[in-house]
Amino acid sequence: MKQLALELARITEASAIASAEWIGRRNAEAADAAAVDVMRQGFNNLDIDGTIVIGEGERDKAPMLFIGEKVGKGSDTIKVDIAVDPLEGTSSVAYGRPEAMCVMAVAQSGELLAAPDVYMKKIAVGPKCRGVIDINASVKENICAVADALGKLPKNITVMVLDRERHLPLIEAIVATGAKVHTFSDGDVSACMATCEPDSGIDLYLGIGGAPEGVLAAAALRCMGGEIQGQLCWINDDEKERLDAAGYTDLDRVYRTRDLASGDEIFFVATAVTDGAALNGVRYLGNNRISTDTIVMRTSSGTIRRISAVHDLNKKDLSTI
Ligand code: FBP
Repeated sequence: MKQLALELARITEASAIASAEWIGRRNAEAADAAAVDVMRQGFNNLDIDGTIVIGEGERDKAPMLFIGEKVGKGSDTIKVDIAVDPLEGTSSVAYGRPEAMCVMAVAQSGELLAAPDVYMKKIAVGPKCRGVIDINASVKENICAVADALGKLPKNITVMVLDRERHLPLIEAIVATGAKVHTFSDGDVSACMATCEPDSGIDLYLGIGGAPEGVLAAAALRCMGGEIQGQLCWINDDEKERLDAAGYTDLDRVYRTRDLASGDEIFFVATAVTDGAALNGVRYLGNNRISTDTIVMRTSSGTIRRISAVHDLNKKDLSTI
């Protein structure tokens, strides 16, 4: 099973190169479609019997790998469930902003929550704060708990929040505690991961983002030792209908890290498309050579591997990366 890690990294690398063609070209859909096509082709070249449980895209009507879609070469092979966001941060690619990446989590069947493509209220922290947060507690209580766990004053806690109008009351509540707010335009998977990276300067993630991204973040945090809690929510009627149709009626339910990603053999793989705090974006080195930066993690071994690769597209194409 562990050999799968490199195979998966090849797929996110190829997807990142494909969508990087669209950086700054103001065409989010084309950037997403490029990543989706290459990712699908990559999965179909693998010796797996895979099922897409999270395809992402319904909420923003983007191109997607379909939920329930079967991928891989066949049935006598490893049976896995796959959560993907072929391009996490489509607008970031379209407008040349940071933190866009091609992301996936792969686990044994039934070990990733098949969350509908609606919103999720989330709170996430790194390893030192595991067990001290509570999504139902006040912003102040959570900030004080995180400050205590880190041995810091609340005014020295930095909270990452997605820059959206819906978060203005949340931002006010954070500022009222004296803590610092760091806003970002897109990409809350990497924002949740930042809480686990000691040099990121980020202590806490709060706010409402996509539910599929919540599952992907949970897979990453399982590998990094952090914690995430989420509650499904909706902002428009379409999402409410999707939630009802999928049978999610208890919107008070708190999904903890292991409810979102339960397995002990989960792979999380992401390749940056645009530059981020942890990974460099795709770079064109000249003479048809391209570099990529990827993070590959696995819950069972706890290995966090970073792969800096240079691809020579004179010698191969995206399907053989
Ligand atoms: P996609 O580019 O994959 O659609 O998501 C980008 C993103 O910023 C996610 O990281 C986040 O969870 C979600 O969008 C927030 O949704 P919205 O942009 O509707 O507030």
